[in-house]
Amino acid sequence: MIKVLDMNVPTLDDINVSGKKVIVRVDINSPVDKKTKKLLDYSRIQAHSVTIRELIDKKAGVVIISHQGRPGDDDFISLEEHAKVMSKYVGQEIEFVDDVIGPYSRERIRNLKPGEAIMLQNLRLISEETVEGPIEAQKDTFIVKTLAPLVDVYVNDAFATAHRSQPSLVGFPLVLPSAAGRVMEKEISALSKIFNEPDRPKVFVLGGGKVPDSLKIVENLVKKRAADKILTGGLLAEVLALAQGYQLSKENLKVIEDKGLLSQVQRAKELMPLIKDYVEIPVDFRTEEDGKVNDYPINDVHGVIKDIGERTIMKYSQEIQEAKVVVLRGPMGVIEDERFKQGSAKILKAALESKAFVIVGGGHMISVLGGMKTDPKKVHISTGGGALLLFLAGDKLPALVALSRTSTEVKV
Ligand code: 3PG
Repeated sequence: MIKVLDMNVPTLDDINVSGKKVIVRVDINSPVDKKTKKLLDYSRIQAHSVTIRELIDKKAGVVIISHQGRPGDDDFISLEEHAKVMSKYVGQEIEFVDDVIGPYSRERIRNLKPGEAIMLQNLRLISEETVEGPIEAQKDTFIVKTLAPLVDVYVNDAFATAHRSQPSLVGFPLVLPSAAGRVMEKEISALSKIFNEPDRPKVFVLGGGKVPDSLKIVENLVKKRAADKILTGGLLAEVLALAQGYQLSKENLKVIEDKGLLSQVQRAKELMPLIKDYVEIPVDFRTEEDGKVNDYPINDVHGVIKDIGERTIMKYSQEIQEAKVVVLRGPMGVIEDERFKQGSAKILKAALESKAFVIVGGGHMISVLGGMKTDPKKVHISTGGGALLLFLAGDKLPALVALSRTSTEVKV
């Protein structure tokens, strides 16, 4: 068992999987190249391969489930490549099953042998998987009702999606004996230590494109006094700048409008009295205008914002020097384009060179690390993005709540 706040969460040490069929929820949602649709980073797949290998070694028949992207987004793709990459890390073929709850998938699970592993298609092809709801209600969804009777045990290893109360994450523990996988367990123990650490200041560096999530996270971090300073980049910084009355440029306003983020500017305005003493926005931005790249101060921006500017990099790097803990999630700019990667890369470098304990989360920021070797005593590379930050803000993550409620009587 592992303790999280006031909850006891069972682990793989508390459950017998030998000769059983085990459904494992992982989060191998990875950054995707917009043009080629190929995966840009394998770190989540590599992390989860440890749990899969252990289950195979224990002679379980393993059914791997995950999401990738969100319907309508560029990175909403099939899990076929993920299965190939996972096969390499596990050292055994993971058969890709191009179906989630249909007859093909059900038949394949029925025939699954001990020591075999398969990966089902992207869970979010089933629309109910994208709907968050109370834990009790999620056990009655098609996904849970169809797949649970075909297996004996549920393992949740998806720390990175543990903040979503979706069917595959919270529905199974109420109907199957369940446990946390090794990634989930490792994240909880590493992050609990940091969460309880009195060392301050704690500096958070937040970027990326998931603005509604990020605003909620900023609100939580401030309310729960988990952050002393929040340095922002990416679209989040643009929304905060607009909320503070900066005009940016016509092109940027259009980007914000096209991404449906005008309501978030309003939300940020409402939050401003609460967060203004904690949140910092860039003093300059790196933009692209007719193919030319330039830095402009925040009150005189031309072209489309693609990264933070050089002065902001220096300012943020200095603030990071003072920190005892630095948490980085989400890139500062469009890292897929080398010309706009340096904001994220230099901020990451400043954190790694500082005396602070560093937590790097979210697939994009991890890809900036580019496989660089780091000292685990100084750096924790988390598979989580949003989940990581909500955990550090002291939130009870729904997936952990569900696991803590799994019935001990139905242990196999
Ligand atoms: C993430 O990358 O943060 C997780 O995979 C969750 O993805 P989501 O924000 O689309 O639910």
